[in-house]
Amino acid sequence: MKILAIETSCDETAIALLDNFKIIKRLVASQIKIHAPYGGVVPHLASREHEKNLPILFKKIKSDFDVVALTIGPGLSPCLWQGINFAKKLNKPILPVNHLEGHIYANWPFSAKGRPASGWEFPVLALVVSGGHTQIVLMKGHQNYKTLGQTRDDAAGEAFDKVAKLLNLGYPGGPIIEKMAQKGDPKKYDLPRPMMHSQNYDFSFSGLKTAVLYLVRSADKINKADLCASFQSAVIDVLLFKTKKAFEEFKPKSVVFGGGVMANKALRQAIKNSLHTAYCIPDPEFCLDNAVMIALAASFKKKLIKPKDFDKIEAKPNLNLEDNSI
Ligand code: KG4
Ligand code: ZN
Repeated sequence: MKILAIETSCDETAIALLDNFKIIKRLVASQIKIHAPYGGVVPHLASREHEKNLPILFKKIKSDFDVVALTIGPGLSPCLWQGINFAKKLNKPILPVNHLEGHIYANWPFSAKGRPASGWEFPVLALVVSGGHTQIVLMKGHQNYKTLGQTRDDAAGEAFDKVAKLLNLGYPGGPIIEKMAQKGDPKKYDLPRPMMHSQNYDFSFSGLKTAVLYLVRSADKINKADLCASFQSAVIDVLLFKTKKAFEEFKPKSVVFGGGVMANKALRQAIKNSLHTAYCIPDPEFCLDNAVMIALAASFKKKLIKPKDFDKIEAKPNLNLEDNSI
């Protein structure tokens, strides 16, 4: 079965064509330059870019396909609608996909450079860390999700972006902080590890961002590299601690990671050093938003929506993994 996948939930327009887990084509149009001057994603600008980019990327596919895999949420409503309206016009059956399960399924083996090392054995423990989400999920089987915990305020990626903004480093913050941190001392500034020892799997990152803000305001001189390294190290400590705690409690057979923050080399290295079990992290380009992951998640879905029912497909900006409607 040939799947054409469309992803427009935030600021990347992505299209991919997969034939039975083999990548035939994958395209991403990044909008970083458009949003950088604002220090964050501007929804109506993002939506306009998707509208412009979708036909351009689609033209490059140059191949027929059987079904369309489509992100319908969570994400920015006007952006999701651009993908949905474009997909409906293609007049092929649609498999609606949750963006977060896309990040998880980026770990399913597929044939291309960057292929994850191994298949999964259930139960699977998944950590999704992106610009909009920070979530620990337990899967008893395909498409069977139980969210063990999530952030109560900012997502980890959002914290990277906000800290970079308050240090005037640019956008998006993640890769910039990662680079600065390489030259810094992670022990220089003593920053909090919010909720690390809480009796649950929830996260909180807004206090960490505020701690950085106070430091910047109160100290005469700040070493930005040291501050970036200290901040990054605090985020990594919390993510790892909770993942290990869930690993011990739920004893999953596989552990998988996903989302843009997982592109961070220091985080990947920390996982390698301290998680003593088989696990999988996609190559960085498959951690960041892409359409291949949407096609992979769709490959396990049965709810094909035919053109006559297309009015049932709508954007779901707050879609949960547990929502069984898709
Ligand atoms: O998954 P993603 O591409 O989009 C969302 O679904 O949100 O994640 C984007 C987020 C941004 O907050 C970005 O700053 C962060 O991932 N990010 C990183 C790195 N690369 C991207 N965070 C830390 N280190 C990185 N190297
Ligand atoms: Zn994402």
